[in-house]
Amino acid sequence: MGNKKTVIVMASSRSKGETRKIVDFVLENSDFDLIDISGKNIGYFDYDYKNKDDDFIPICADIAENYDHIIFATPVYWYIMSAPMKAFFDRLYDLFTTHKDIGRKWKGKTMSVLSCGEDKFVVDGFLMAFKETAKYMTMNYGTEAHGWIENDEVPDAVKELLNGFINKVNS
Ligand SMILES: Cc1cc2nc3c(=O)[nH]c(=O)nc-3n(C[C@H](O)[C@H](O)[C@H](O)COP(=O)(O)O)c2cc1C
Repeated sequence: MGNKKTVIVMASSRSKGETRKIVDFVLENSDFDLIDISGKNIGYFDYDYKNKDDDFIPICADIAENYDHIIFATPVYWYIMSAPMKAFFDRLYDLFTTHKDIGRKWKGKTMSVLSCGEDKFVVDGFLMAFKETAKYMTMNYGTEAHGWIENDEVPDAVKELLNGFINKVNS
C-alpha cells in the first residue's frame, strides 16, 4: 500500500454506538487511523457553497495528504448508508468544483466499506453508491465487510469477518 496509511471515516448518528464497536475491533487489530465525522460540523451540499468553512474541507485535505486507503464505516439505516455519511458523500462534489486541488489528490486512492446493521447482510444495492462514487472519483474500489452486534458485543463470527477484511485491506 506504499508509505501512506489507511483511515476509517466513520459516520453514525451516534459516536459510541454499534458501528463504533465494529470500528473499534478493526482499530485494535490494525494500524488504521480513525476520523469520526459523527460529531463534526459537516453541512449539506449547497450550490452556493454556504458551508465551505465547516469541517469538511480540512478533513478531505488531511485524507489527501496522509492516506492511501479510505474505509467508510456506516450503520445501515433503511438499507443504505447513514444520513451523516450521505451528507459527507454529497459534499465530495466540492472536490470537483471549489477544491479541485484536493480532488486531484484523492484520485488513485482506494475506497472500502465497513457496515453495521441489525441484519446479518446488506441488500443488493447497498454498496452501489460507494462503488459508483469510487469510479466517478477515479478511485479504486477495495473491499467490504458487514457486521452486527449481539448482546452489546462483536460476535465471534463477525470478528472472523473483520479479520479477513483487515487482511484484504493490508494486502
Ligand atoms: C433509522 C434506522 C434505520 C435502520 N435500518 C436498518 C436496515 O435497513 N437494515 C438493518 O440491518 N438494520 C437497520 N437498522 C439497525 C441499525 O443498522 C443497527 O442497529 C446498527 O447496529 C446501529 O448502529 P449505530 O449504533 O452506529 O447507529 C436501522 C436503525 C435505525 C436507527
